[in-house]
Amino acid sequence: MQTCPYTDMFIEQIKAGNRDVFILTVNDKFIAECDLVYDNSEYGTIPGKRLYFSRLIVKRNERGKGYGEAISRNLLELAKEKGYKSIALGVDCDNTSAVNLYKKLGFTVYEEAEDKDGKFYRMEKTL
Ligand SMILES: CC(C)(COP(=O)(O)OP(=O)(O)OC[C@H]1O[C@@H](n2cnc3c(N)ncnc32)[C@H](O)[C@@H]1OP(=O)(O)O)[C@@H](O)C(=O)NCCC(=O)NCCS
Repeated sequence: MQTCPYTDMFIEQIKAGNRDVFILTVNDKFIAECDLVYDNSEYGTIPGKRLYFSRLIVKRNERGKGYGEAISRNLLELAKEKGYKSIALGVDCDNTSAVNLYKKLGFTVYEEAEDKDGKFYRMEKTL
């Protein structure tokens, strides 16, 4: 089985209460997933003020139907209800679908960076 190289780190973050995983299902079937990360300086979070939007994914054959936008809007609302003032994320520069979605949701690019996986944007949105 193929596993994500970051699985152990994500599990630790969940155990520490720093990552909540949200799943969108329709008729009990998995459609989409997205996480909120609360306290991780590497992600630019500020405790109680700025959190991080992570790992948005929509099942391949369910893309283009509005689910990505729907789960994202739900999480942005939830983050606001929790009292956060802003939210940040990172997205590969060549991931056009995701970049377009985040711009549609009101995120703006505040930095272009590069890691071992290539160039990516750091984006943020005021809640
Ligand atoms: C990015 C992703 C989450 C979008 O989810 P989705 O359910 O397909 O998107 P939606 O149907 O809700 O579309 C919402 C908006 O996203 C953008 N978008 C979605 N698919 C797009 C595509 N193929 N091309 C360009 N823009 C696209 C559009 O702005 C769209 O709004 P519009 O319909 O008014 O044009 C999905 O493609 C995915 O899971 N990709 C693989 C995982 C990934 O890259 N996640 C992001 C990690 S940072």
